[in-house]
Amino acid sequence: MTRGRFITFEGIEGAGKSSLQRALAEALTARGHVVCATREPGGTPLAEEIRALALARRSDGMPPTTELLLMFAARAAHVSQRLAPALARGEWVLCDRFTDASRAYQGGGRGLDEGIIDALASIAHPALAPDLTFLLDLAPEAGLARARNRQDNGDRFEDEALAFFARVRAHYLLLAQREPQRFRVLDATQTPAELLAAALQELAAL
Ligand code: TMP
Repeated sequence: MTRGRFITFEGIEGAGKSSLQRALAEALTARGHVVCATREPGGTPLAEEIRALALARRSDGMPPTTELLLMFAARAAHVSQRLAPALARGEWVLCDRFTDASRAYQGGGRGLDEGIIDALASIAHPALAPDLTFLLDLAPEAGLARARNRQDNGDRFEDEALAFFARVRAHYLLLAQREPQRFRVLDATQTPAELLAAALQELAAL
């Protein structure tokens, strides 16, 4: 059996990644594909516990390197316990965030060294990279307004200043520029239906 397809969704908070992931999962399932819809940090019981730790607000703060290592601790569990097995079974893996998020948030946002992130990626997922990455691009003002309008109580990242999200966004765009064959940048101000149509068109080529 051939390896399944590995599609990731990236963007700042409020860009609409999760809605697009859900809509695409439904559309692909309706076409007869077996879909594994998952997210990072998280996706397995162990990785979800690490997620809770990584995203919780805390009065004693969290050093950026601790944050980075928690993201990769969750990722290592997710890849080995869920993601790689699903790909080996030939499934379409639709993942809400992956290592590009570490590059954008911990690299671009927090200013951590890219070489360290590369080294961790080579430990957590040697020889595994997404086939296609949708970057939902949106101005931080608009994204944060959407995210903070949600009924949930938000998380530690949503408390960051606009300048942090501006760096994250700029870094995502830089990653897309570096790897144009893998990234598809979508204007996240489009309607959900327009985004789904654009994404399906891109997937047809796969
Ligand atoms: P979300 O995907 O539900 O928006 O929340 C996940 C948060 O975790 C989001 O603020 C981005 C952050 N994050 C990182 O900082 N680095 C990572 O590697 C990942 C996967 C997520």
